[in-house]
Amino acid sequence: MSSTAAALSPGEQLRASYLATRSFTDQIAQPLSAEDCTVQSMDDASPTKWHLAHTTWFFETFILRTQSDYREFDPEFNFLFNSYYNSIGRQYPRSRRGLISRPGMQQVEDYRNHVDREMSRRLGCDDFATQNAELLQIGINHEQQHQELMLTDAKHMLSCNPTWPIYRDDPFDRAVAERAERWIEVPDGMHDIGHEGDGFAYDNESPRHATHLHATSIATTLVTNGEFLEFVQDGGYERPEFWLSMGWATVQQDNWDAPLYWVQQDGRWHQFTLAGLVPVDPDWPVTHVSYFEADAFARWAGKRLPTEFQWEAACQIANRSSDVSLEQEPFADVLMKQNKCIHPTRSPAGLMGGVWQWTCSSYAGYPGYRPPAGAVGEYNGKFMCNQYVLRGGSVATSSNHIRDTYRNFFPPEARWQFTGIRLADD
Ligand code: AVJ
Ligand code: FE
Repeated sequence: MSSTAAALSPGEQLRASYLATRSFTDQIAQPLSAEDCTVQSMDDASPTKWHLAHTTWFFETFILRTQSDYREFDPEFNFLFNSYYNSIGRQYPRSRRGLISRPGMQQVEDYRNHVDREMSRRLGCDDFATQNAELLQIGINHEQQHQELMLTDAKHMLSCNPTWPIYRDDPFDRAVAERAERWIEVPDGMHDIGHEGDGFAYDNESPRHATHLHATSIATTLVTNGEFLEFVQDGGYERPEFWLSMGWATVQQDNWDAPLYWVQQDGRWHQFTLAGLVPVDPDWPVTHVSYFEADAFARWAGKRLPTEFQWEAACQIANRSSDVSLEQEPFADVLMKQNKCIHPTRSPAGLMGGVWQWTCSSYAGYPGYRPPAGAVGEYNGKFMCNQYVLRGGSVATSSNHIRDTYRNFFPPEARWQFTGIRLADD
């Protein structure tokens, strides 16, 4: 018989997954200097240092502080690094996070180590792990969401520097070109939508429910830079007939003439990536477009954006047919392997991976949805206003978040995430 590793106890499993997640966060910050980690380039983006501290604060607040023998690292941090949980206390304003020079990076590292030591020690006890399993899973998934935000926020911060600094040499922050375009037929009728069963999912993915969908076809390929360039060259950003009113107002006000990070140089379009400035490659999926741009492009192309439910139904169909797959490996997995970290790997397939895809669905609770009781109830539910749902996951998304029920959400003008376009045709 082959030597089978002794099965890990629930506590050991959670402990390993906790430590791997924490260490991957540190790896993301690793190429950045203390100065890089301190500045805030816009209201929506947070400094790396804040992400490092806030994810730590999450475990401290939701798990450690409930333990009578836990000694807080610094009571001031409860104000500085609470993002938006009113039931926990007041918060330092989000738009001013870049003004916090103290604690410095060394103190934040000490904070991380303090919480890791406490968590690691306690997770050695299976009872503690099982009792806190649910919050631990949320904390781990929360930190993974922040890993993606660290990359997108750092990209925005570096893009403000006209010398186009390089974060990493390999241009991992682009999606792989896909194969021939095909269309997945979503039949008219009732479809089951949402999460059910084992495996972690956020509250906003439930309850699973049946919903009626109108027949549509969904493209197997993402819209490419080349296709988007045709829209730009056809006067896409100068012709109001393609745009929603709010979108057109944003184009005018912010002087948009191309996706975020596209710059003209020597008469050619270039795009800023985490590997610096590179010529726009027509085969890469277009990314860093807002909902407004995705919607305008679709109208120009004579198509539309799918609803999030049509997207999910198409995804279920694609998952069943094995010949629809993307071979893109998320950056998290590439880095994890390079650094030999333990990481639950699951290859994206079907409609998933590459770039987040705007749907035309407003972010709202599913029928019967109720935010969970307590402070974690503030995690998703209270943001269900004035945002659109994105599906699929990006090159910066942790691979265990890439599932057909996952719902990302951003306001329609947001462009700094890896957001792109998948078309529907009715
Ligand atoms: C799901 C990416 C919109 O950015 O606020 C982080 C993720 N939630 N901490 C966000 C999140 C709590 C969330 N998004
Ligand atoms: Fe958070």
